[in-house]
Amino acid sequence: METREILLELRRKNGLTQDEMAEKIMVTRQAVSRWENGETIPNSDTLKIISMMFGVSINHLLGQPQNTVCPSCGMPVDKTNDFRAANNKSSSVDINYSDNGGKTMKNILVTGGAGFIGSNFIRYMLAPGFNHNIVNLDVLTYSGNLENLDAVKDSLRYTFVKGDICDKDLLAEIFAKYNIDTVVNFAAESHVDRSIVDPEIFVKSNVTGTHMLLECARKHWKINPNDRHEREYTPGVKFIQVSTDEVYGTLGDKGLFVETTPLAPNSPYSASKASADMFVRAYSETFGLPVNITRCSNNYGPYQFPEKLIPLMINNCLKNKPLPVYGNGKQVRDWLYVEDHCTAIYAVMTKGRPGEVYNIGGNNEKQNVEVIRLLIKELGKSDELIQYVKDRPGHDIRYAIDNSKITSQLGWSPAYTFEQGMKKTIDWYLSNSGWMDRVISGEYERYYNEMYQ
Ligand code: NAD
Ligand code: DAU
Repeated sequence: METREILLELRRKNGLTQDEMAEKIMVTRQAVSRWENGETIPNSDTLKIISMMFGVSINHLLGQPQNTVCPSCGMPVDKTNDFRAANNKSSSVDINYSDNGGKTMKNILVTGGAGFIGSNFIRYMLAPGFNHNIVNLDVLTYSGNLENLDAVKDSLRYTFVKGDICDKDLLAEIFAKYNIDTVVNFAAESHVDRSIVDPEIFVKSNVTGTHMLLECARKHWKINPNDRHEREYTPGVKFIQVSTDEVYGTLGDKGLFVETTPLAPNSPYSASKASADMFVRAYSETFGLPVNITRCSNNYGPYQFPEKLIPLMINNCLKNKPLPVYGNGKQVRDWLYVEDHCTAIYAVMTKGRPGEVYNIGGNNEKQNVEVIRLLIKELGKSDELIQYVKDRPGHDIRYAIDNSKITSQLGWSPAYTFEQGMKKTIDWYLSNSGWMDRVISGEYERYYNEMYQ
């Protein structure tokens, strides 16, 4: 029998829809690829995989008492013959096939998933209640840390691939192997100060990398990739570009960034993100690729690399080191707890109108010194730790997001106030000092000394 016929037969015997069968094949493929990569798969999972692949009951495999007949092998089975039922009983495997209300499962390529926001997004997407498969492509730069994903690394819905978004052969392989239908592109060089010291890698990862991903998505998803006038794509595909409010440049005392605010990036980092946005827009306009761009304000929360304001100040406070405030410290940022960013991206992924840009923000404008004083107070330190240092060149004075498009059109709103988010963040860093110590034990010290000499 041909593979296709075998699969059709398994599907018929098990009474599965096409989506359900595709879902089982994907999970099996991922498990086999993990096994090929030398991972040990727990016995309970192995049984489930075999049960799923060959359509036989787990009880049959275990030789346990049965009370009805396995539709595939003819052996008696009990109700646990259904892989979903068996799986729901398990506590060891993080798959939940039953509670997505019949929505189509997605195979999502998350790039940069070992970084701060990407790892929070992956943990969010692998929680019970979703059934999507996640492939995380990350080259693991200084800010990429697989420890951020320890909690989900054994999920059968999760696959990690170490690699660069600029590697077009690798991208083609991933799209084909995992049947990718959604891209959420977080991968980027993300720190403004580093872009001032060495802009080149920002152009490569942020601009070329995004272009490579767009091109791969276009080729794989377009129904007739060689017909340049045709704009039809496989139904349900989408490319999400995770951009930033920094592409709009800076605000004065008044006003908010709206989606139509002209782009006016001021740092090499924001220029690279704005360039990437322009490519995403061009792929939508010229090729009809279904895309969304999200532009979020400053994030904070667990697993943020301590080069960014909040974790850097927490770490320095805890070590009684000076707190370096750039310029007069009166610059304003509009802070959003990272989990709220993740729910916003999910809203855009599922409900965003193709071709649209969505600003994301939580209406939490704060001056830098305000944030630093709050941290000092919460951590029981003294204002004397504050040290005013030379300003960042081209420092943007104020960012503030008008979030009315995403709140009114997609029904998203942030779940955390600034106070709640800060409390969760501080608690997390206090309980995860080991994470911080490991992060700052390597290249960080050299970076810190160079940047703050
Ligand atoms: P981060 O620096 O913590 O993580 C970036 C991740 O991308 C790392 O894991 C890194 O290894 C990976 N990466 C970098 N270059 C890569 C490449 N060429 N190929 C594959 N992987 C690569 O950054 P973050 O703060 O999590 O930001 C994620 C995204 O969100 C970025 O695109 C950033 O521009 C955007 N963003 C960030 C914020 C914020 O406040 N942090 C706000 C709005 C938007
Ligand atoms: O607005 C979204 C952007 O927010 C993201 O696109 C970027 O990836 C992210 O890094 C962030 O950019 P900022 O430059 O705003 O974040 P950063 O944490 O570097 O700095 C926040 C503010 O604090 C900024 O005004 C500079 C100031 N600062 C920062 C550091 C690291 C200091 O005063 N001292 C510091 O040591």
